[in-house]
Amino acid sequence: MTHRSRKPYIAGNWKMNLDRAKSLDLIKTVKGRLGDGNDREVGFFVPAIYLADVTAVAQGSPLGVGGQNIWYEANGAFTGELAPRMLREVGADRVLVGHSERRHVFHEPDEWMGRKVRAALDTDLLPIYCVGETLDERKGNRTDRVLKRQLESGFDKVLPIDAHRVTVAYEPVWAIGTGETATSEQVALAHRMIRKWLAQRVGEEAANLIRILYGGSVKPDNAKELMGIDSVDGLLVGGASLQAETFLPIIEYDR
Ligand code: PGA
Repeated sequence: MTHRSRKPYIAGNWKMNLDRAKSLDLIKTVKGRLGDGNDREVGFFVPAIYLADVTAVAQGSPLGVGGQNIWYEANGAFTGELAPRMLREVGADRVLVGHSERRHVFHEPDEWMGRKVRAALDTDLLPIYCVGETLDERKGNRTDRVLKRQLESGFDKVLPIDAHRVTVAYEPVWAIGTGETATSEQVALAHRMIRKWLAQRVGEEAANLIRILYGGSVKPDNAKELMGIDSVDGLLVGGASLQAETFLPIIEYDR
């Protein structure tokens, strides 16, 4: 299976940015420029408070809309958290799990990851499971070990039949929001390692259905090169997803 037999997936992660009016404007603009969605998948991961409004505007287009985080229980005494079913209820169809800011700023441990991915799948939310090493880990030659540990925890409860619904995002922590992009060689090596690990974990056939995105300082001027890397199935974009002027050229990287 060649990598282009997997549908390219361009995802925007707004993090804690924009406001309600700007969010809706951006959705309207991008929606107007998307075709039928047959040749690429586009999704936005938006602040949960705007999900209902954003999904209402996105309706009728192939634009996917998701949350940036979930808790894995369906209800209970978890002040400040959101259950997967709550995101579904306001129209989200996807969710990020294990983004590096959740791991490093909010200290989410590996042990939660498998449960979150499972909870997302059980609620019909398509998870993007994020993995990535810090600069110290890379300098200490621990990149492979760290990625494998993160994959182990995230795929703990994933079955081969679920595999096509899971997306992995490789986001080196040192490349996120820093303007520093990993080299094509670093990206290719990490992605190859991840796909090999996935094949061992869920079997080659199922692993071939899993898209692996790259994230970390993706910009209009590097999107084409990144998408040209054989093992890259898509991009997870932070800063450059906040404005149509920078996000549209990334979506249209091949035009
Ligand atoms: P960035 O963020 O594109 O601003 O580096 C990527 C991400 O955190 O997903």
